Amino acid sequence: MIWIVGNKGMLGTELTQYLQNQGLPVLGTDREVSFLDPDALSAFAQDKPIFWIINCAAYTAVDKAEDEEDLALRLNAEGPENLARLAQNIGARLLHISTDYVFSGTPQLQFDAPRPYREDDPTGPTGAYGRTKEAGERRVLAVAPSSLIVRTAWLYGAHGPNFVFTMLRLMKERDRIGVVADQRGTPTWARDLAAAIHGLITKPEVPAGIYHFTNDGECTWYDFALAIRDEARTLGLLDKDCTVNPLTTDQYPTKARRPAYSVLSKDKIKALGIPVPGWRESLVEFLKTQL
Ligand SMILES: NC(=O)c1ccc[n+]([C@@H]2O[C@H](COP(=O)([O-])OP(=O)(O)OC[C@H]3O[C@@H](n4cnc5c(N)ncnc54)[C@H](OP(=O)(O)O)[C@@H]3O)[C@@H](O)[C@H]2O)c1
Repeated sequence: MIWIVGNKGMLGTELTQYLQNQGLPVLGTDREVSFLDPDALSAFAQDKPIFWIINCAAYTAVDKAEDEEDLALRLNAEGPENLARLAQNIGARLLHISTDYVFSGTPQLQFDAPRPYREDDPTGPTGAYGRTKEAGERRVLAVAPSSLIVRTAWLYGAHGPNFVFTMLRLMKERDRIGVVADQRGTPTWARDLAAAIHGLITKPEVPAGIYHFTNDGECTWYDFALAIRDEARTLGLLDKDCTVNPLTTDQYPTKARRPAYSVLSKDKIKALGIPVPGWRESLVEFLKTQL
């Protein structure tokens, strides 16, 4: 059995559907079996032949985390550590989801030239969310060294609030919007991440450790917004124009600082033969099939 923890979130819902469609035996829990409660976890796992635990549960409110880092740390580090301990006890493997926010977002200060972050590059989170997610990675690998950690970024999908839905709503309501044009990264369709997770857990003997998965290529939030507008117009999902103006990060202040550059290298996961679709192709597929 594969146990998906956080099965009601955006990724957890997508992953559950994806694995079930592949004919795999899936169990899911969310808040009703809190991963902060080791006894509840053990009781749930008892007498079930679980061989993978996939943790999609997390504290994901990036700005709010600045004001409640203790709570974020419990959910992003203590909960995953509880799952890692349970996985060790029952002889299962844990796959845990992490984030590009574990990096500083200023690779030009670390490397000769900006380049996509590799799995073994030094981390250096600049905010509470990233710090707590980084702590989660460390604790998971310390307690259950056979675990897989998959870092992703800029996630969107059919089952939760995300940038694509926000843009489509704003573009319907307004004639012009401003979007940050000095932060680079890569959007990731939750369906593609689900397919990559499926690849990781079904390939024989995938080495333990950290893997990066986003869609391929890179863009700014502004580029992403333009692509959403143009593809939605082409597909007839948006029946009016909307001007998108580029903003600087300074013009759009947020409580938590966002990484200026957080493109992740996918070389390691590609070497396993796992497909990494381009971000724009996946956006089109998402708009065509999910809206
Ligand atoms: N979204 C992004 O852009 C993004 C980017 C990079 C990485 N990630 C990572 O990707 C993973 C999935 O993100 P997501 O956007 O799918 O998250 P999400 O939609 O916020 O889902 C998280 C789920 O965990 C549940 N949960 C909260 N506390 C719990 C507890 N104590 N026990 C069990 N479940 C609990 C949440 O329930 P409630 O809704 O009731 O709180 C929610 O259903 C996370 O690890 C996140 O850090 C996300």
